[in-house]
Amino acid sequence: MSDFDYQLVVIGSGPGGYVAAIRAAQLGLKTAIIEKDKTLGGTCLNVGCIPSKALLASSEHLHFAKERFGAHGIITGEIKLDLAAMMKRKLDTVGKLTSGVAYLMKKNKIEVVKGFGKLVDGHTIEVTEENGGKKTLKAEKILLATGSVPIELPFLKFDGQRVISSDQGIALASVPKSMLIIGAGAIGLELGSVWRRLGAEVTVIEFLPRIAAIGFDPETSKVLQRNLEKLGIKFELSTKIESAKVTGQGVELQGVKEGKPVAYQGDLVLVSVGRKPFTTGLGLDQAGVKLTDRGRIAVNEHWQTSVPSVYSIGDVIDGPMLAHKAHEEGVAVAEHLAGKPGHVNYKIIPGVIYTAPEAASVGITEEEAREQKLDVRVGKFSFTANGRAIAADTTEGFAKLIADAKTDRVLGAHIVASNASELIAETVLLMEFGGSSEDLARTIHAHPTMSEAVKEAALAVDGRMLSA
Ligand code: NAI
Repeated sequence: MSDFDYQLVVIGSGPGGYVAAIRAAQLGLKTAIIEKDKTLGGTCLNVGCIPSKALLASSEHLHFAKERFGAHGIITGEIKLDLAAMMKRKLDTVGKLTSGVAYLMKKNKIEVVKGFGKLVDGHTIEVTEENGGKKTLKAEKILLATGSVPIELPFLKFDGQRVISSDQGIALASVPKSMLIIGAGAIGLELGSVWRRLGAEVTVIEFLPRIAAIGFDPETSKVLQRNLEKLGIKFELSTKIESAKVTGQGVELQGVKEGKPVAYQGDLVLVSVGRKPFTTGLGLDQAGVKLTDRGRIAVNEHWQTSVPSVYSIGDVIDGPMLAHKAHEEGVAVAEHLAGKPGHVNYKIIPGVIYTAPEAASVGITEEEAREQKLDVRVGKFSFTANGRAIAADTTEGFAKLIADAKTDRVLGAHIVASNASELIAETVLLMEFGGSSEDLARTIHAHPTMSEAVKEAALAVDGRMLSA
């Protein structure tokens, strides 16, 4: 340690990096964290998960007030949008959480170094501060948690005005009349929902034949699409965009759908075709840190890179680009560095799309079970037969469980519901413990709750539903 300023220096303060720093400090490692942006928290807190959820909540309230208040016997005057106030609330939410991370750094005695960190070698980092000043940190171990950035289409460069990424898609100053979205993954569907509810005409163009195709059950895609179409979103599936014309007035996209040329016009286009690891300017080459064929930082089972003193986690390494995956890796790598057996169960990572209804998934889908020739039993229950859902006006969706036909062990769960992101948690826990559908079916669930539908899906695996 004597040759080093710190036992661990983390580059990047997103949900991977800041969590790793906290866990390392808890375990007694002298830790620093480097962040290039003004506030801590990375993409998730500043421009990703949190601001999008603030806008999803606000726009859902607006939509509910306009469309459903009458049915609930609530009479109001004209309901209007104050976009500036909605954006201010979003910023306040972000501010609360990013300052919360700063507080946690202080509480855990983690030094925060502001600036851009670059590897010089396996133990040395050069930090370029905002004012151009340079600082050198010597670390026994270095953790790269630099995250990811939106992918740009070669013929459609981001300009922040007409061609935007999610970074701008959460911060528009006015509601566009028409919005084109390329990519029907989590970002396209969530931000498409926000701007449609706020009044934009939204068209989502997707290369694949279904929406939410990556990691979600085909039935989930169908129910989501039906609900989003009800909201007024248009979908152009199996469509490849190949070129674009961007003018001061708007955007025209040209492409091919089922062999025929197509074109779409809009005020602007949100490109949400995935994210790529952020490694620019990190000095990886110079330090000898190797990448995978797909451009992510290559690590072994202990998150160690090709340079033994350098580790990496989160979006910049392989695996789904999800905050909770990075978070768990942060805990595990810190425990490993402190001499403990850190572990991540990569088979059981839930995924959520926060539309209305939400879609949540964990483990294998029915389709994957068939492809893998697994002998499974499937139980499904619709929220239209759930008392709480009827009372709360949230009957859209279903819960589905996939269990091994012989052992009854649950292998996957797929839920579409107004709060599927919360409902999926009990199935994740069940799978973590290697539980069966029978375990879930015999667990007492409070009545009336939406979670009873998950229990009914477990009963349905054995064909013994009680409420349908
Ligand atoms: P994504 O990878 O989830 O979806 C991109 C979609 O774009 C795919 O359906 C793909 O087929 C389509 N696509 C790709 N190229 C295309 C083209 N040229 N024309 C038409 N369609 C095309 O990417 P997304 O939504 O941008 O999200 C990026 C990452 O961030 C993902 O890993 C996602 O899981 C994560 N994320 C997760 C969220 C959540 O958990 N709720 C929210 C936001 C992002």
